[in-house]
Amino acid sequence: MTGLLNPALLRVAVVGVGARAGLVRHVTDSGRARIVAFVDPAPYAEARAADLFGRGLIGYRGVRQLIDAGGIDAAFVVSPDDTHASIAVDLLHAGIAVYLEKPIATTVSDADAILAAAASTGTPLYVGHNMRHMAVVHTMKGIINRGEIGDVKAIWCRHFVGNGGDYYFKDWHADRSKSTGLLLQKGAHDIDVIHYLSGRYTQLVTGMGGLSLYGSITDRRDNSDRLMPEWFSLENWPPLTHKGLNPVVDVEDISMVHMQLDAGLFASYEQCHYTPDYWRNYTVIGTEGRLENFGDSDGGIVRVWNHRVTYQRQGDREYDIRGDAGGHGDADARTVNEFLDFVLDGADTVTSPVASRNAVATGVAATESLRAGSMPMPVVPVDPAIVARLETCRQPAGESPG
Ligand SMILES: NC(=O)c1ccc[n+]([C@@H]2O[C@H](COP(=O)([O-])OP(=O)(O)OC[C@H]3O[C@@H](n4cnc5c(N)ncnc54)[C@H](O)[C@@H]3O)[C@@H](O)[C@H]2O)c1
Repeated sequence: MTGLLNPALLRVAVVGVGARAGLVRHVTDSGRARIVAFVDPAPYAEARAADLFGRGLIGYRGVRQLIDAGGIDAAFVVSPDDTHASIAVDLLHAGIAVYLEKPIATTVSDADAILAAAASTGTPLYVGHNMRHMAVVHTMKGIINRGEIGDVKAIWCRHFVGNGGDYYFKDWHADRSKSTGLLLQKGAHDIDVIHYLSGRYTQLVTGMGGLSLYGSITDRRDNSDRLMPEWFSLENWPPLTHKGLNPVVDVEDISMVHMQLDAGLFASYEQCHYTPDYWRNYTVIGTEGRLENFGDSDGGIVRVWNHRVTYQRQGDREYDIRGDAGGHGDADARTVNEFLDFVLDGADTVTSPVASRNAVATGVAATESLRAGSMPMPVVPVDPAIVARLETCRQPAGESPG
C-alpha cells in the first residue's frame, strides 16, 4: 500500500497555497501524513494546489467550510500573517492540530488569543520557527551551551535582506495594515533566535528606522493575481530599478532595535532590505569570549575568540556550518518533522508558541518605538496563567526561550 492510500496517516489540510505552501510537501516525504485538502479563496488556488501536491485534494474557499466538512486531523496555516489569528483560533476550537507559520500574528492581542485558544482547548499548537532548526543557529547554540564563551551578555544581529525588494515590497508585506511592519514580520525570526541563544526574553526596546529607498519608486501594481516567484529576479538591481511595487508601501525598509533582556542582557537587531547580499551575521559576546558567523548555511563558518588580541581574523577556533546543504529546505524538513513528532508522539519541541508570541510582542514594541521618535517601549509580558495552562496540556510552551 502506498502512503497516500494508508488511512492511518494523519490527514492534513493546507490553509493558503501561496509562495510558502511548498513547505507542506515535507509531510508527505515523512510517510506519516497525507495532504487531503486545501483552503484558499484565490482564483489560482486549485491549479496551484494540484501543482504543489498533486490532484485529488478537496478545495475550500474558507476555513469554516473545511471544519464543517470534517475529516481533518491537522492543518498547516500558511496564509498571510493578518489571517493567522482567526484561522488558528477556529481550527484549535475544532480540535484540529495547528502548524502555524511565523509570525504567530501581527498584534499582541491576536497572538494572545491564539495561545488562549490552545490553552483552553488542549489542541496542539506549533509555530513554525524554522530558524531554530538552521545549522548556523544549532552551531552557535552548541558553542554557548558548552560554555565556550562563558555567560552570554550581549547579542548583535545584522540582517542583510538582499532579496527584500522582491520578497517584501510587492505584496501585502509592504502594507502595515496587513503586516504591522518588517521589524515584526521579518524580524520575528531573529528576535526569536536572540531569545533562544540567550535563554532570555526582551523587556524593553527602542527602535529606529524609516522608508528610505522603496518609497520613491512610483511603478506600482496590485500583484494579488500572482505569487512572488513570478516576479523574483536577481536582475532586479540596483534596488531603485525595482518595478511593480505594492500600491501601498508604508513599512520601513531599514530598521533597527535595541533590546534590554531579562537578567541584564542586551541585544540589537539591524535589518536592511536593499543590500546586494542576503544573509545574517550574528555575534554573541559572553564573559569569556565572543563568537561570530560568516555565512549562514553550508560552507559558512562560526569563529570563536577567547584570548585577548587586537585583531585576529581566524579566531581561536572555527566550526564549519554543516547540515543545510539544501538551504532553507533542510530546516523546513526538520521543523515539519518536529511538528509531526509533537502531534503524533507528544514529543518535546525546540520551538515554542510562547517564545513565538514574545518575539511578536518585541517586534510590535520595537515598531511602536520606531514610529514614536524612538521612545523606549516595554514589552507586554505573556499571562503566566496561560503559560502554566499550556504546560499542563503538554504544549511546547517553553517558559524559558532557551
Ligand atoms: N518560516 C519562513 O521562513 C517563512 C517564509 C516565507 C513565508 N512565511 C510565512 O508564511 C505565510 C504565507 O506567506 P506567503 O509568502 O506564502 O504568502 P503568499 O501571499 O504568497 O500566499 C498566501 C496565500 O494565502 C491565501 N489566503 C489569503 N487569505 C486566506 C484565507 N483567509 N484563508 C486561506 N488562504 C488565504 C492567498 O490567496 C495566498 O494564496 C506568512 O505567514 C509568512 O509570514 C514564513
